[in-house]
Amino acid sequence: MSATILVGGFFGDEGKGKIIAYLAKHDKPSVVARGGVGPNAGHTVEVEGKKYGLRMVPSGFVYESARLLVGAGVLVDPEVFKREVSSFGLKGRIGVDWRCGIIEKKHIEEDKSDAYLKGKIGSTGSGCGPANAARASRKAKQAKDEKELAEFLCDVPLEVNEALDQGKGVLVEGTQGFGISLLYGTYPFVTSKDTTASQMATDVGIGPTRVDEVIVVFKSFPTRVGEGPFETQMKEEKANALHIVEYGTVTGRKRRIGEWDAKMAAYSAMINGATMVALSGVDRLDPSCRGVKEYKELSKEVKDFVAKVEHDTRVSVKLISTGPELSEIVDLREEQKEK
Ligand code: IMP
Ligand code: MG
Repeated sequence: MSATILVGGFFGDEGKGKIIAYLAKHDKPSVVARGGVGPNAGHTVEVEGKKYGLRMVPSGFVYESARLLVGAGVLVDPEVFKREVSSFGLKGRIGVDWRCGIIEKKHIEEDKSDAYLKGKIGSTGSGCGPANAARASRKAKQAKDEKELAEFLCDVPLEVNEALDQGKGVLVEGTQGFGISLLYGTYPFVTSKDTTASQMATDVGIGPTRVDEVIVVFKSFPTRVGEGPFETQMKEEKANALHIVEYGTVTGRKRRIGEWDAKMAAYSAMINGATMVALSGVDRLDPSCRGVKEYKELSKEVKDFVAKVEHDTRVSVKLISTGPELSEIVDLREEQKEK
């Protein structure tokens, strides 16, 4: 697998957690390293009937032999981190880069009370925006300054690059989505950092020449939480008719549902430098495809949609998620698609 980066192609919540968990279990990387903003992210992972909601630890934790890392670019909320480490039993195999920025209580309070951040932008209230502002002002604390993180401190770039030198697999987990990138998203209705693959490489300390694969995850029906433009948003009645109702993992807010956005998908695949696409939620397009694991078992409607996605993005669709459970996936990485 070598160095693979996975990112969200739309506005977040594309199903990255599930795809990462599948890749971790299936490809058995030595290291799963998380990039991204911080605990504003909410990843959902379902394995063997159990459902996990994660905000800080890598979704690849489901593969028990992987070393888990939180890259220097990520903001750490020590409380959220420690809670997840203890509830998933990750002590001993998870490390936090000593340079990670720290989210303090005051950042959370500001994020929750600020009329601009909370009111206009619709932030998650997790303190990420104010903490990243503090970091840019060189006022933020780092992980090395937090006593309660001492036992987890490590040098993530060293570990990741050494693993690559030894020919081991490294899976880099992005968070959020292209549309809420500080640089390329629908500014000002965006998160407090870039969300593209290059940023994820930076977050964990690998240079662009070390990246082998960039997987961009697109949702068949994109969603958006919080404020901001959403060009292909559909009427609530239509979403209801399609039986698509979603709530945010972090905030519990109802997500807005949209149609496939060809223009955005193309632009997102371009800036991310996608080498393959992972498509989620095809079971919403055709519920009869729920849980399908073989390409040939997919309906014509879904196959046609996969072809459209490849046409729009000019990238091969190699992973097709057919349901939330880890095993509900068509993996085409090693086979030719039968037409
Ligand atoms: P913040 O990142 O909490 O400042 O929120 C800024 C905007 O990004 C809001 O519209 C949030 O709903 C959105 N956002 C931040 N993180 C995520 C995520 O992981 N998934 C989806 N939306 C997110
Ligand atoms: Mg999410």
